Amino acid sequence: MKQRILVTAGLPYANGSIHLGHLVGYCQADFYVRAHKRLGENAIYICADDTHGTPIELNAARQGVKPTELIERYHKEHKRDFAQFDVAFDYFGSTNNDTNREIVERVYHELRQKEALEDRSLDGNWCEKDERFLPDRFIKGECPNCNAADQYGDVCEVCGKTYSPTDLKNARCVLCGGTPVIRKSDHVFFKLSAAPNVEFLRNWIESGALLSDTANYVKSWLDSGLRDWCISRDGPYFGFAIPDRPGKFFYVWLDAPLGYVSASVEWGQQNKIDFTELWQAPDKTRIEHFIGKDIVYFHTLFWPAVLKAVGYTLPSAIHVNGMLTVEGEKMSKTRGTFINAATFAEHIEPQALRYYYACRSGADSSDLDLSFEDFVLRVNSELVNKHANLFSRMSQFLSQKLDNCLGDLPFLAQEAQAAPLLTTNEINSMVEQARRVVAACRRVEELYRKREFGQVVRELAGVADIGNEFMQSAKPWEQLKTDPEKARETLTFAANVCYALAMYLWPIVPKFSEAGARVLGTTIDSIDATRLFAERKRKLGTFERLFERIERKQIDAIVDASKQSMPDTNASKKTNSAETTAGVIQLGELIEYDQFSKVDLRVGLIVNAESVPKSQKLIRLEVDLGEGSSRQIIAGIAQSYSPNVLVGTRIVVVANLKPAKLMGLESRGMVLAAGETTNMSLLRIEKELAPGTKVK
Ligand code: MSP
Ligand code: ZN
Repeated sequence: MKQRILVTAGLPYANGSIHLGHLVGYCQADFYVRAHKRLGENAIYICADDTHGTPIELNAARQGVKPTELIERYHKEHKRDFAQFDVAFDYFGSTNNDTNREIVERVYHELRQKEALEDRSLDGNWCEKDERFLPDRFIKGECPNCNAADQYGDVCEVCGKTYSPTDLKNARCVLCGGTPVIRKSDHVFFKLSAAPNVEFLRNWIESGALLSDTANYVKSWLDSGLRDWCISRDGPYFGFAIPDRPGKFFYVWLDAPLGYVSASVEWGQQNKIDFTELWQAPDKTRIEHFIGKDIVYFHTLFWPAVLKAVGYTLPSAIHVNGMLTVEGEKMSKTRGTFINAATFAEHIEPQALRYYYACRSGADSSDLDLSFEDFVLRVNSELVNKHANLFSRMSQFLSQKLDNCLGDLPFLAQEAQAAPLLTTNEINSMVEQARRVVAACRRVEELYRKREFGQVVRELAGVADIGNEFMQSAKPWEQLKTDPEKARETLTFAANVCYALAMYLWPIVPKFSEAGARVLGTTIDSIDATRLFAERKRKLGTFERLFERIERKQIDAIVDASKQSMPDTNASKKTNSAETTAGVIQLGELIEYDQFSKVDLRVGLIVNAESVPKSQKLIRLEVDLGEGSSRQIIAGIAQSYSPNVLVGTRIVVVANLKPAKLMGLESRGMVLAAGETTNMSLLRIEKELAPGTKVK
């Protein structure tokens, strides 16, 4: 059995939706694993939800649900989003289960035994009233650096300075507003700064697991000196209790990476492969992590040091992706460029994004930009005009007069792979072009292994060019009239180029490639250059359009749907503690009453409600506004309400909103609701007021 490649991707926090930034790494790892599987490697793709820590606890409290409910909800949502984007994990687990708890405890005991841990007492902020220690996010005060008010205990959002919570001026407990007092608390430290660890890490970063760009800044961290790493947190904390330290919990950044281990172990249980084979036998399984640049610190210092200490397999590669920017800037909720996966998928086929991310991806960790203009251009000019177009012309000409049947080019299969040139010019040219295709495809195999997906896409666009140019010069539409069998040869050549594209594009755009294979009347389940130009003498499948052009207005719709009046929170920022995702409620700018009174709000009575076919989000409502006949309003509430409970409800409607079309349906007005997509609450009118009554 070949050495297994266990590929992981950075675990998404289970308190937010998957957004386009996340998808960069998940797609890159997916391209990589799919390519390896089809190249005959024994690769598996493992991920899980990262479920513990203060932000999750806070978010749950804010939404009035238990943390376990919150992470359950996001688990389902994440799985759905990944499926929609064809991110095909072999296993998608969770860090909040017994498998992970057992592994975390086992690792903890090992670390104790190896004397890798040390107990130390620290000053903490204690709230006398709430009788608890307050983590950074539970304290607010004035920044010790710039005096900005209302700053959290770890970092100032105004001047960007990081500090310790005890430095904060006029610190207050966010739960009760009281003043915390300093109290000693016992904590557990992993001795990261111990000489053997530092020496080990110095060697490890030279082991080839990191590309030089990443290795260089890890080296600079080592040079500036490591600190021991606190792996405990005071309770209450949403996480695993430390067995022999009552009231203490494991810090989320210990149990999160161990989620890689536990999720793969659960996969192993299903596939009868044991823990040792996966994590303690490097010759049987090698580990490769895909992560974003923002979490390199956690993966290149503590993580290998902990693995080393407990004798688990060290990663042979950590692949780091850069951060996504949209239109050259950080994703922004106010600009509508903080785009969730689900919102994108409602308007544009996800394969387009996969294709674009591949275009913009290289092996290194430079940031990548989603430029809308470039996105539309790339997808339309390559995926549609080059690739889909070749399939379409080939298939249409072949089905016109030639029974949709391929001819025979007996020389081509061997000649394409090597061998001497033939005599006639025509054949020479065909062989020459076929050889160029085969050579490009072989390069693509290497490029996939090196994660140079941008170059993969370029090579394959070149292959499509060869096919299109060949057709253009052979002119099968004329050959069909004068010499149909000649046309069949031309089209057989083109079909073979299509076959190459379907085979080699699959890791990036699997659905596109599978549709392509159907048009060719076949299925393809491996990447194998020796099968190139071997398609002959058989009937093709029926033609189907492989891809629709993208229009700018689809992007505008996504941006509109993503626009939120709330200013950006620090949702995508990360400090060293990573306990950051908690949002701050900030209000919008002040407006005059005049501006408000322009909005005509009315009481509406829902007289009919039904789901909108093919939409997960929309419900079609008929609403009585006292106008004589009811209006159709399309509302994005389907993930929070089922239609049958809505009839008879009195709601608030923006009655003078310009009509808009949603999934082809006209919506005349808008209903008001609060909350997130999956947890919305309609604004209801308590009393039985007449439909059309003004709301002010
Ligand atoms: N839960 C941690 C990772 C724990 S791994 C043991 C985390 N979660 S995250 O939800 O914030 O991010 C999940 C993955 O997406 C990480 O690999 C992260 O680096 C990546 N990205 C998050 N935002 C991103 C961008 N804006 N751009 C590119 N990658 C991004 O970090
Ligand atoms: Zn308090």
